[in-house]
Amino acid sequence: MYYPDELVEEVRMKNDIVDVVSGYVRLQKKGGNYWGLCPFHNEKTPSFSVSGNKQMFHCFGCGTGGNVFTFVMNYENYTFPEAVKHLADRAGVKLPEIEYSAEMQQKVSRRARLLEVNKEAAKYFYYQLRQPNGQIGYQYLKKRELNDETIHKFGLGYAGKNGAQLVQYLRSRGFEDDLIKEAGLANFSERGGLLSQFWNRVMFPIQDINHRVIGFGGRVMGDGEPKYLNSPETPVFDKRRNLYGLNFARTARSGNIILCEGYMDVIAMHQAGFTQAVASLGTAFTSEQASLLHRYTENVLLAYDSDGAGTKAALRGIEILREAGLTGKVIDMRPYKDPDEFMKNLGKEAFQERIDRAENSFFFEVRILEQQFNQKDPEEKTKFHREIAKKLCQFKEEVERENYLQAIADKYHINFENLRKLVLNYAAQTGLATPLQRPKSGVAQKNKPEENARKAQRLLITWITDSPGVYAKIQKYISAEDFTDELYRKVAARLFDELGQGKFNPAAIISMFEDEDEQREAAALFNTSLPELTTAQEQEKAFRDIVLAVKKNSYEYYTAKLGTDVNALKQVIEGKKALEELSRIRIAPN
Ligand code: GTP
Ligand code: MN
Repeated sequence: MYYPDELVEEVRMKNDIVDVVSGYVRLQKKGGNYWGLCPFHNEKTPSFSVSGNKQMFHCFGCGTGGNVFTFVMNYENYTFPEAVKHLADRAGVKLPEIEYSAEMQQKVSRRARLLEVNKEAAKYFYYQLRQPNGQIGYQYLKKRELNDETIHKFGLGYAGKNGAQLVQYLRSRGFEDDLIKEAGLANFSERGGLLSQFWNRVMFPIQDINHRVIGFGGRVMGDGEPKYLNSPETPVFDKRRNLYGLNFARTARSGNIILCEGYMDVIAMHQAGFTQAVASLGTAFTSEQASLLHRYTENVLLAYDSDGAGTKAALRGIEILREAGLTGKVIDMRPYKDPDEFMKNLGKEAFQERIDRAENSFFFEVRILEQQFNQKDPEEKTKFHREIAKKLCQFKEEVERENYLQAIADKYHINFENLRKLVLNYAAQTGLATPLQRPKSGVAQKNKPEENARKAQRLLITWITDSPGVYAKIQKYISAEDFTDELYRKVAARLFDELGQGKFNPAAIISMFEDEDEQREAAALFNTSLPELTTAQEQEKAFRDIVLAVKKNSYEYYTAKLGTDVNALKQVIEGKKALEELSRIRIAPN
């Protein structure tokens, strides 16, 4: 931990979680909590809750949760110390400067070092572009009509023909060879030693939403293979979860985001004033990127190449956007190939018109579909209509489906009732409602005994958190040692300690953990869904079952450890006694 615990806690207390989260997510008060659409997974109905009392957030859809630090770490992609710094600044708390002593240097995480070496490399490339040897790169960018301001804004640079120079420079700045290699900046060769990965290319630093350089794309000047060379995936460069240009686009406030295929497209668009343009990172658009976009907008405009490959990519992109609950529209770039060429030839007013006329993604799909069938051949035409009917089934809401049905019937001169019958046929065959997609991570529904035991432990902690009064009822029987999961045990120890002192502060407990995953696990302990119980009897039974399950599991756990764990014997003896007593007495939560 870089900052003293008391300071971390002060920062946490001065940043009300409802306030902080409201800056990112639209929240609505319902009952005691605030609810909104989860920014960490795709959803259409809110399952993301923020509790002012607990000072915690929790998503019932994807299982993520934590305190205000966890939220900022997740959202801004910060490390724990970065999140503390950010929130300290927000609340006007002064933090001590961190001195990077040799010892500290060791402690600075690998991630931070990778970001540093990337930043240094970006500076190096940027500088090279302005050297005599870099003129070839500078002239290339000029020829592509980029002005100096744009070159500066995107930090464009040049990787020279001497592959050893970058490595020498980075070494001179104190970066070790294996770090330079891990960052994907250089590769080892038998003949030349460590040599730059990028050679004679103009360089595009790729930044995350906080303007930190996480990787690079390098373009050959002229023809050559590969046209773009990208950094490999590294611990800081996740191509599925970042978008080129989003660091600027996130504050564009244009009401939409324009998704392009290439880096050059993004840059040309920004130069023309469309600062809401982004592109994926040399790979196809992913659902993770769609989630990321969903934090900033509901409307995504696709500005993909107008060729066959671009159209295919657009169709796939539309599907991904739809699954993410985003509205997709398609910008017609014809007769030009991509936004970059369009802008050069027709300029920004013409492009704005194309934005205004962007085609609804469903109509776009149907138009592409139409081209695949010979409309003069009745058989083919029938197939086309069947395909339309199939597609219409994707609209689960009847009003929406009927509206599209009407619009398509009009547009393609198809008899409305006939098309409707076709749709109903398909709907009957396949079932209209396709099952909702379950988020992959977070909600592991395992029924193994260990998982049941862990669940009981979580339920007990949540119960105590929701009604701290119950702690007095179980204090005699349950101790932190009964929590057989190490992380649970740590949380329980701290929680019981605080309750013993008459304090109670679950959100602070989460700050004990610096790792995001650990914070999420700890938070889950305070946010397990308790069973809905109405009568006092039901409550008593549930409570008793939970306490017994925790104690029984603990007893079995320590019995198995007899002989190998010095504490086991004590735990087993006490456990046996407690279980006997619990079987005789009444224990109720209220
Ligand atoms: P320019 O020719 O410079 O205008 O490129 P562009 O921005 O129009 O890119 P293009 O449409 O050719 O490709 C779109 C994106 O795909 C690029 O920005 C790269 O991210 C990626 N890409 C293109 N060529 C390659 C390649 O050869 N290898 C890899 N890995 N990615 C590529
Ligand atoms: Mn291009």
